This record gives sequence, structure tokens and C-alpha cells, in this order.
Amino acid sequence: MKKIYILFIMALLFAISCSTEKKENLIDLNIPWKFKAGDNMAWVAPSFDDSKWVTILPNKIWEDQGFEKLDGFAWYRIRFLLPSSLKEKSLMKDSIQFLLGRIDDCDQVFLNGEMIGQNARTQAIKKAPGNEFIKEQGIWNTERRYVLNVNDERIMWDKENVIAVRVYDQNGAGGMFSKPFAVSMVSFGDYVKFDFTKNTFVFRNDNFISRKFTIENRSGKDDFSGILSLNVISYSTGAVLFHKDTALKLARNSKTETGFSFQTDPSKPSSAEIIFKENLSGQSVTENMELPYILTPAEKKEPRINGARVFGVRPWSPFLFKVAATGEVPLKYSAKDLPEGLTIDSINGLITGALKKKGEYLVNLTVKNISGTATRNLKIVCGNTLSLTPPLGWNSWNCWGLSVSDEKIRQSAEAMKSSGLIDHGWTYINIDDGWEYMHDKDGKILTNSKFPNMYTLCSYVHSLGLKIGIYSSPGPKTCGGYEGSYTFEEKDAEAYAAWGIDYLKYDWCSYGNIAPNPTKAQLKHPYQVMKKAIRKVNRDIHYSLCQYGMGKVWEWGAEVDGNSWRTTGDIEDTWESLSGIGFSQGKCSPYSAPGRWNDPDMLVVGWVGWGPALHYSRLTPSEQYTHISLWSLLSSPLLIGCDLSQLDAFTLNLLTNDEVIAVNQDPLGKQATRAKANESYEVWVKDLEDGSKAIGLFNLTEKPLNVPVDMKDIKLKGRWNMRDIWRQTDLGAVEKHFEMNVLPHGVMLIKVIQN
Ligand code: GLA
Repeated sequence: MKKIYILFIMALLFAISCSTEKKENLIDLNIPWKFKAGDNMAWVAPSFDDSKWVTILPNKIWEDQGFEKLDGFAWYRIRFLLPSSLKEKSLMKDSIQFLLGRIDDCDQVFLNGEMIGQNARTQAIKKAPGNEFIKEQGIWNTERRYVLNVNDERIMWDKENVIAVRVYDQNGAGGMFSKPFAVSMVSFGDYVKFDFTKNTFVFRNDNFISRKFTIENRSGKDDFSGILSLNVISYSTGAVLFHKDTALKLARNSKTETGFSFQTDPSKPSSAEIIFKENLSGQSVTENMELPYILTPAEKKEPRINGARVFGVRPWSPFLFKVAATGEVPLKYSAKDLPEGLTIDSINGLITGALKKKGEYLVNLTVKNISGTATRNLKIVCGNTLSLTPPLGWNSWNCWGLSVSDEKIRQSAEAMKSSGLIDHGWTYINIDDGWEYMHDKDGKILTNSKFPNMYTLCSYVHSLGLKIGIYSSPGPKTCGGYEGSYTFEEKDAEAYAAWGIDYLKYDWCSYGNIAPNPTKAQLKHPYQVMKKAIRKVNRDIHYSLCQYGMGKVWEWGAEVDGNSWRTTGDIEDTWESLSGIGFSQGKCSPYSAPGRWNDPDMLVVGWVGWGPALHYSRLTPSEQYTHISLWSLLSSPLLIGCDLSQLDAFTLNLLTNDEVIAVNQDPLGKQATRAKANESYEVWVKDLEDGSKAIGLFNLTEKPLNVPVDMKDIKLKGRWNMRDIWRQTDLGAVEKHFEMNVLPHGVMLIKVIQN
């Protein structure tokens, strides 16, 4: 039987932002450029003959275009005609801009042989040969927009112009990427900019939703008066659900704080169109944004047991397992057939003690409240393998960066508990880089002044029923320049155990100076050294390798007893980063197993920012559903990266869907594989322990899309019952084929169970 399930039928243009500039008013540079690795200042000359250079696209890093191993300098060149009609046609005639996407790491840009701009980050400057490269500081992942006055002598109107870009890349991904690549006049839309990242949506109980934002007028010359309009548009019908106009004056060089508030049904996806239309010129700037929609159903009063169903521990290690359960409080916890050495606290659901003997123990958990009783089995496996399901927790890096402190860790742990995340299985509170000071004369690692007492901090986190993690590097220094573990591995492992650490993230960083061009054996070596050290102490420490996937770590991470290993460079809160990392994980799938997880990096939802200043995740709500769904299908560690003390309603809802988390925590521990993919969509399938399958249908495009699936694409025969995992509702049966309408960059996560 064909079951066609269509959720949303209306195609609605989805764009993060757009200005009113028309295509003919720009010169498109998103075309092949000339490219050469190396460095030679003679390459700035407009007359230089680059015809023998290879061609490369500017919108993709060079690793994706055949230059996998390239680090250091490389040059890009492009020639184009610059007609004066460009400025004549433009309403604003003062300035011209060169838009060069983003550049990893840093760049100097030359127009017709003369430099017109540069951007760099400090580390890259220090490393560049001769240290002469770029004096200014900048962030690599920043918009490259270089602006000149139209009368600037470097511009050749009505003639051929040459742009040469000198790029320096430190390691990992390199070169030009992202978008836009163009030359255009600076227009109204370049002066007036919306900024939505400083605030997020606030839901009120009566279904009112509000958001503050700022509008910046970057012009130093002009004030702009106009109308700010808001249209809320339904995804399913295309109808305008709400409209409002407000008169607004934007003084030159100013930022105006404004906002909107309207009533909506948060379970129905819709989008907002925000327009500022200037009175005199009639020009406007528009921003389209998807509004947050809530998929996870409200928690029930009846008790429900969540989180891991299988738990690994080593004999004699201190045992700590929190039975995660929701339902109206107070809840009363009990456990039948607990092995000798373990007890359960009936009030907080903590199982503690120690097991003496290796073996498998099946425990029957019960949670009761005034509305009912829930029971579930927990398999305890006492042996050598830890983390039999992927770790669920939080890590300080994606929000606090190096500004992490004892106080922030305590706040995060408290929020993990008070927000209720702990009741859905979230367990670890991990301190990333920034806690270290130095080794003393006895080789003991000392904490810096932000962490006055690591032992009391660990004890506090444990007292909340949570576990705590720490970070170090096998090199002399961490990536943030703090003290690493090099030559102090045993001492450090002893210190971690004495403090009560449960998780170690061990980050390659400056080990690159010790093994500059590492062989496979050299890549493994520092991880083997620390493995021996942490496996010697009487504490179960999840061992998380972080070396960005070098030497296909997924093939040998288990050999060095890693419980998880990062498969990629650092993630960011952009669709490019998320989709680039997430959809490239298929190659690692065969190596994932209970206790051995591929780690495509931490979650970028909520308030993130790499500290101390935070911004709201730039991912759309649908992209965030994709993030959590894909990471769950991939059996990835789920480490929340945001400020837990500021969890908004959307993020909390996103992180507390027990059926989604159950996909991640499935005891079979099989990572999803890609069943079907093209330029527009991807379909991933994960085998689950009970014989059912979790299937993710992902829309890669910027419009709603029907994703078709033939059951033979996913190798299924017979009749299967389908369930919408996010909405936790049954969808009926399917035999041969089904299709689902998926939101832009969004997902439908379903489970099929043999009928
Ligand atoms: C590297 C890691 C990040 C973080 C920082 C800390 O970049 O990949 O996850 O741990 O180091 O300096």
C-alpha cells in the first residue's frame, strides 16, 4: 500500500536574509577562480600570467577540491570587467564593495596590484613565516567585505580588473568558502542590517511569542525613516496569520532596539517576514526567518523511566547511575535484583556502591507517584567497557570557551538538575579547556584561580546526581595555551581520580610540535600513554579522544581504548558547518559500537559563543531539529554546548524528547548509515535493538520538499507501522513507498516497526 503522508504543502521561500539589490546590479564572482599553492608577491601583479594555474571554486574549501593536505599559503586570482553602468544604475553611488565570502584562516586582498583589505587571527599571524603577514586581527569565519569609494584610484572602471587573494591557512580546512562572491555598489541593504543574535524568542503560556532585535544603520551620512513591517506566514497554508506596521527612524551610525510580539500556535510551523521600507527611496531590507515550533509533547503526570537501558562499569570502581524519570513529583524509586554491592536511593533514584565481580546483571527498576507506576529493565554489565550508550551531557567550550570557571560549572550543574534535563538522562558536566595552571615541583597539576578547589567542585556536581568531566592535551600546552599533560600523564590521571573525574577529553593540540608529521603509530602513541594512566586508577573515566579525525581515528580509536573520538574539526552554529560535518559521518559508521562512539562534535543549540560573550544559535529551528535527529541517528555523544542557566523554552523542548533520545541511547549501539542521497535530500537509517528502524529524512534545500522513500531503498520487505518520533504519534502502515514533506533544512524522524 502506498502511504503518502504530507505534513506541509505550501512552498514558501526560505532565505536567511536578502536585500533588494537585483542580480544585474552585481558582478557575480561565484565562478571558477585561478588557484596556486605557495606564496610569491609577484602574483599580485595584474599583468601576471595565471593561465597555467588550476581553477577552483571560491564557495568550497580547498580540501573539498583536491587539496586535502594543503596548509600554509595559497593564492586565488580572478579577472572581470567593471562597467561604469554598475554605479550609474545604482541609487546610492558612493561606494563599491568586494564580497569574498569567508576565508579560512586569513587573507590579504589586492585589487589591480594594490592591497584593499586584510583579515587575520592572532595565532595565524604568529605562525606565518617571517611573521610579516597581517597585522590586523580578525576572526577567520567572518564576512569578507572590502569597501572602496567609487573614485578610488585602484578601481579600473570600464576595464579589466584583477583581484588577487593571498590566503594563509594554519591547519584543517582552508581557503575561500561560503558566499556571497560578487562586486556590487553599496546599497541601502548594505547600510541597514538586522541583528537577531542577541535575543531569542520568548514564549508565554497564552501562546504569545515575542522577540527583540536590533536594526543598525551603518551609514555615517544618512538618517533613514521608514516603516517596519512584520508578516507571520503559515507554512501549511501560506496565509498571513499576523501583520503589523510600525513607523521607525534610524539615525546615522546607530543601533535601534525594537521587537515584535504576536499570538501563534507553537505546534504549527510558520515563518516571519520582517521588512524595513525606507520612505524616500522606497528601498527596503527584508529578513525571513523560521519561527520556532514545538514538537515534543508535554510531559505526562504518570511516571516514565528514561535514559540508558544498559550501563557499563568496571569491577571495584565507584558506581553512580541516576535513574532518569519524569512524572509528577514526588517520585519514589526502587530496584529489584540489584546485585550485591549496590543500593538505590528511593528519593533521588541514585544507584551507588561498587561491584566486585564481572558479569551481567538484569535489574528491574520501578518509579511510582500518585498517578501511577512505571517499570523498566536496566542491564548492568560489569566488565572492561564503559559508556555502553553514548554519553549525554554538557561541555563548557561552545558557550564559555576559555572563560569557564568554578562558578559557571556549578551554575550549569544546578541548571541541568533544575531544568529537568537530568530526568531525561543528561548526565555529564564537562569542563573543557581553561582550568589548568601548571605542574608543581612534585609533578602535581595545579588549577588556576578560576578553579579554587577541584575536589569540592567534583563532589558538588556528584551530590546533584551528575558526573563531571575534564580536559587536557597530550602536548605540553592545550589548544587554548594552558598547561597540558605531556610527560605528566600518570600524575594527572591520579589527580583526576582523586578529584572524582568521570570523563576525560584529551585534545591533540600542541602534540603536533612533538610529532609534526605523525605516522599512524605516532598518532596512537600519546593516546596509549594516557590510556594506561587512566585505566590504572580506580575510577571509571570515559576516555574521549580529540584529534579532529586525523589518521582515520575511527579505525583505531577502540584499539587505544577510546570510548569516543572526534571525527572532525570544530563545529559552529551554521548550516554549512552542521550539514558538512553531520552528513559526512557515513564513512565512520562501521566502527561505532557500544563503548566506542564516533563524535562529530558538540551541540550548537541555545546560547553559544565560545565565551565570554554569547549569542543565540544561528541555526533555524528546523536546522536544530536536524542537528539533534542526525546526532541521535549517528549514536554520537550528545554534549549540549549552550549556557544551561539560560535555557529557552524551544531549546529545552528540543533536548527533552525521550523517544528521540532513545534512538541515540538504543542498546544495540549501531550508527545509522546513509540509505539514499542526492543534492536535495538525504535518508539515513539506524537499526534498533527491537528490530525496528529509525529513519531520518533530511531536506537539504531552502524550500519545503517531498522526500520519497521506496522500502527497497532501505532494504525492508513486508508491512511496517510508522511512528513520528518527534511528535510521538503513529502514522499508519507502509509497504512499498512513502513520501514526507520536510521543512527547509529540516527533518522527519520516523520509526518503522514490523507489522
Ligand atoms: C580544540 C577542540 C575544542 C576545544 C578547544 C579548547 O579546538 O577541538 O573542542 O576543546 O580545543 O581549546
